[in-house]
Amino acid sequence: MVIATILAAGKGTRMYADMPKVLYPLAGKPLLVRVLDTVQRAGISRTIAIIGYKGEQIRSALAHYPNLEFVEQHPQLGTGHAMQQLLPVLADYSGDVVVLTGDSPLFSSETLQELIAVHQQRQASATILTALMPDPTGYGRVFCDAHLRVEKIVEHKDCTPEQRLNQRVSTGAYCFRWQDLARVLPHLDNHNAQGEYYLTAVFAMMEGVIAHDLRDWRESMGINDRCQLAQAFAYLQEQIKMRWMKAGVTMILPETITIEETVTLAPNVTLEPQTHLRGSTTIKMGSVIGPNTLIENSLIQENCQVSYSVVVDSEVQAGCRIGPFAHLRQQSVVGQNCRVGNFVELKKATLGNKTNVAHLSYLGDATVGSQVNIGAGTITANYDGFAKHQTVIGDRTKTGANTVLCAPISVGQNVTIGAGSVITEDVPDNALAIARARQVTKPDYYDATGRKKNLSPTQGEGEPS
Ligand code: UD1
Ligand code: CA
Repeated sequence: MVIATILAAGKGTRMYADMPKVLYPLAGKPLLVRVLDTVQRAGISRTIAIIGYKGEQIRSALAHYPNLEFVEQHPQLGTGHAMQQLLPVLADYSGDVVVLTGDSPLFSSETLQELIAVHQQRQASATILTALMPDPTGYGRVFCDAHLRVEKIVEHKDCTPEQRLNQRVSTGAYCFRWQDLARVLPHLDNHNAQGEYYLTAVFAMMEGVIAHDLRDWRESMGINDRCQLAQAFAYLQEQIKMRWMKAGVTMILPETITIEETVTLAPNVTLEPQTHLRGSTTIKMGSVIGPNTLIENSLIQENCQVSYSVVVDSEVQAGCRIGPFAHLRQQSVVGQNCRVGNFVELKKATLGNKTNVAHLSYLGDATVGSQVNIGAGTITANYDGFAKHQTVIGDRTKTGANTVLCAPISVGQNVTIGAGSVITEDVPDNALAIARARQVTKPDYYDATGRKKNLSPTQGEGEPS
């Protein structure tokens, strides 16, 4: 039997923020949720999070997380003091306890399983997951013999200059035989540089402690400040992008692309530079996204092209060309083989198949049929200052350039609207609608030299003298 405990009571002073550090999002997911997901994937079924600073906020953020219990630590006197809070809770427990910190979100579940397996095979009383860090600054240094039997951990701030040269650090992940830990926990003191009760001080009091080195030290990166948050993001991104490239996705300059792990990509998708894919986004086979495009919570079907555009909470069906400079949002749905072009915004708009909105339009709260041509500069005036209203446009209709459709309004099928029209009344099928002032042309208004006729040169209004 293995129980996981996650230390998450600290404030995260080095983040300079009010929010508890473990709730900080890393690529869209709070640090603590990442740790919990790893624990769950490793097959551990009971997890205890130790919370304190803004604990209420953590409880409500994780209210629905399965098999999660909370234990409070007040005040927060250090990682050893945090573990002491478990003494009454686990008084009768005799299995192993995996300890993780809520601010180290990059461990894989395989690493945790390996830690537990090594601990149990070697019948250790404690196993420390260690890493050989190129720059160990800030981490606790682990001192052990050639067989990785641990003598002690010395925190960075308590190290002598020679001790600091040791690159083997504690990753903050451990597996303990709980009863062996429980025996020494009450004996911790806070005589150290930070005046805290360190969990890392237990090892000097225990027998049978071993170290187990991580293969890739980057998995153990802890998040103490925003530089480390950025480094962890870069590491995660590298993992995600390598996985998709191996699965058949082409990326041009991958270092300029970001992809959240909630995204799904089909083989033979191409991502151009500066593409950012977030949330529950799916891109289907053969589509080319970017350059410079953000897609969030959206579905892009097969063989689409989306460039220099923003697509949020929307769907684009197969064979569309979107952009450059289009913005689709709020459940817009673009039918097959459509073109949504330069400086076009769609909000809660549905387009049928083979419909074009090529230039400078806003379609909001609109249902547009198939094979419609929306002329340049067509705007749905969907807001009357109080409420939003619907526009409906039938199949094969064409709106002239600079049409304004004052909603609520319905334009039938096979209609043509004259350029510059302000449409305020419904238009039936098969009609031509023109709603603009008739042009007035005054012939011979100027003479051949450009002066108004019938005026003396000095009388002309606004004439250059
Ligand atoms: C800790 C380890 C260090 C290790 C590093 C790995 C100690 C003393 N040091 O240092 O050896 O190399 O992690 O990342 O353990 N917390 C509580 N209650 C408290 C204090 C902290 O729950 O009273 C929680 C924090 O919320 C955090 C975790 O424990 O999630 C680690 O605390 P932090 O202050 O970040 O320790 P480090 O200095 O990183
Ligand atoms: Ca830390």
